[in-house]
Amino acid sequence: MELIKTGIAGLDDLLNGGIPRGNQVLISGGPGTGKTMLSLEFLVRNAINGRKGIFFNLEETGEKLKEEFLSAMPNLKEDFDKVIKKGTLILSGRETALRVRGGKGDNPYEIDNLIAQLSETIRNEGAELVVIDSLSVFSLLTDESSVYKRSMYLLTETLQKLNVTSLLTIELTERNVSALKFKSEFFIFDGLIVLYQMIENKKRISEIEIIKMRGNSHSFDVLPYQILPQGIKISVKNMGLY
Ligand SMILES: Nc1ncnc2c1ncn2[C@@H]1O[C@H](COP(=O)(O)OP(=O)(O)OP(=O)(O)O)[C@@H](O)[C@H]1O
Ligand SMILES: [Mg+2]
Repeated sequence: MELIKTGIAGLDDLLNGGIPRGNQVLISGGPGTGKTMLSLEFLVRNAINGRKGIFFNLEETGEKLKEEFLSAMPNLKEDFDKVIKKGTLILSGRETALRVRGGKGDNPYEIDNLIAQLSETIRNEGAELVVIDSLSVFSLLTDESSVYKRSMYLLTETLQKLNVTSLLTIELTERNVSALKFKSEFFIFDGLIVLYQMIENKKRISEIEIIKMRGNSHSFDVLPYQILPQGIKISVKNMGLY
């Protein structure tokens, strides 16, 4: 089994080497926990090594994303510019995002169209890695939980067929992780990583946990992380054995 290194400091230790190639991994967490930064850093780090990645930004414009990323991780500017220029990192999704916003909602065909479009872009670009930020857009397209669940199945099936490794972000504010673990639409993903924020002694602490990762062992520890100018850093010094 081939492992795709995330290149994020500490995360590959947690993942016992990386993400098994072909896995579809959900990155969930509350607002501002770093889901977008982590996913984009993953693509930048891999693009530097020649693995082509595509970032579907379904939430904001490409310019704003770039600005935010480089303001949070200014040390990665040179790498970022290089991979954009080389074409190993592609930022996409703006038209899709605008259209989804203008859509009427509650139309399964809209969801099918969206997935077909993502799929066509991935195929045309020949991308090996994919980020979809975020899946919340799918819930905007329907009020029906059954339609939403079906769209998650169709999406993971499509990504599997394309043979890509992907990170899919989702906003989850639920404090209770066990509720999250048992949400049925999450069973279909190969991996589930959760970013938490909690207050300890009036200080906000960010922590990361790998809940599952098919095809590989991983740490069961919940470890603190920071968003630093040189990228995300997970403190693994107190990590136990797998
Ligand atoms: N210039 C900066 N310097 C340091 N940290 C920053 C900077 N800009 C952003 N951050 C950190 O990055 C976090 C935002 O990260 P990100 O946008 O990836 O979160 P998110 O989980 O995707 O949020 P959302 O749910 O709103 O999409 C901020 O909460 C802050 O901690
Ligand atoms: Mg985000």
